[in-house]
Amino acid sequence: MKNTPIEQHLIDETINEFQIVDFSKATIREVKAIASKAEAVSGVEFIKMEMGVPGLPASAVGVKAEIEALQNGIASLYPDINGLAELKKEASNFIKAFINVDLSAEGCVPVTGSMQGTFASFLTCSQCNEEKDTILFIDPGFPVQKQQLLVMGQKYETFDVYDYRGEKLKDKLESYLKKGNISAIIYSNPNNPSWICLKEEELKVIGELATQYDVIVLEDLAYFAMDFRQELGEPYQPPYQPSVAKYTDHYVLLISGSKAFSYAGQRIGVSCISDKLYHRMYPGLTKRYGGGTFGTVFIHRVLYALSSGTSHSAQYAMAAMLKAANEGQYNFLDEVKVYGERARKLKEIFQRYGFYLVYDNDLGDPVADGFYFTIGYPGMTSGELAKELMYYGVSAISLVTTGSKQEGLRACTSFIKDHQYAQLDERMKLFAENHPIG
Ligand SMILES: Cc1ncc(COP(=O)(O)O)c(C=O)c1O
Repeated sequence: MKNTPIEQHLIDETINEFQIVDFSKATIREVKAIASKAEAVSGVEFIKMEMGVPGLPASAVGVKAEIEALQNGIASLYPDINGLAELKKEASNFIKAFINVDLSAEGCVPVTGSMQGTFASFLTCSQCNEEKDTILFIDPGFPVQKQQLLVMGQKYETFDVYDYRGEKLKDKLESYLKKGNISAIIYSNPNNPSWICLKEEELKVIGELATQYDVIVLEDLAYFAMDFRQELGEPYQPPYQPSVAKYTDHYVLLISGSKAFSYAGQRIGVSCISDKLYHRMYPGLTKRYGGGTFGTVFIHRVLYALSSGTSHSAQYAMAAMLKAANEGQYNFLDEVKVYGERARKLKEIFQRYGFYLVYDNDLGDPVADGFYFTIGYPGMTSGELAKELMYYGVSAISLVTTGSKQEGLRACTSFIKDHQYAQLDERMKLFAENHPIG
């Protein structure tokens, strides 16, 4: 038995207790529960990197606006199903200010987080044409989105973009689209879990192929402008957040309050439907609902059925945050840049002790430092590494759960505290001693 900060039998027994046969498939909640238990029993603090939850205070601009709205009595009233007019207008301005794309306020629809935005989008996209019954994931991705499709009984296909960056993306994407069964393509940018950022040339390929094959693009911007290699936070000034919106006209941009504004608890986001898509009629929608366009079905049928709108006060918060950002009074990225600093320090420690970054570049440029990063260790599978690191009081999730075909882990920077760098350094030094690289 090696000498490790957490006694190995404690982790092994807890894993058995949870009846996890293959640790590479353990979910975020399971990893969290095992880490919490091991921490409580051993008294040794864990360096927790499994959860993708904001670790910062909520945007003060949002909190203030929300309190005021509540004091003004809006809690008793159902929100307008189309969304608060002020929020719709500011979301449209936000897209102009930070992406430099024109999208009407009409298509900017509040949702209870991007989670609901993707659920409603998947559902609507799947109903447009009978023959298009499958969603395509450009993975790695956010596991819950596949669960959403499982819940609604819809099909999906997926590929790991690791080997298909740049020029290789076109043929790979086309091999799926030409079959004619894909209704929509989804990816996140910056990407959860790998923090790769698709470049303009890649977004152009996605956009052009989507147009050619009449497919809708769902662009998940949960980490809006959080590619800290560039200064994306100046409204109406380049550089802008890259987007497929420049290359096709059938898309939904999923903007979330959760990470960029640390507003996850209030469950607020905006799903922004392009003008063309909003007004497009589809045979499947006409047959099912007797009429309507993509936009009206999305709002008046799907969202109405799901939750009859989005928390009234949270819409005031989101409107205020977007407005302040649009007017240049609030640089929301300043508040979240700390994630990038944490990533830089953590990556450096891991790399010092023999770990490598799994997804390490964007067409030759090193990936940005941000909310997540991915690590591997020579000769270890995802499952082995995830379990082994638990013995050292470090918890992270295996890439297997994200649709990645690479061996490694996703580490999240959001819960790291300042005193933990020294702790990590000490523990990874021991790890390296116990696992000499051949
Ligand atoms: C890629 C991605 N999309 C969507 C979400 C969920 O966002 P929201 O809190 O707005 O539902 C997350 C949260 O972790 C995410 O990582």
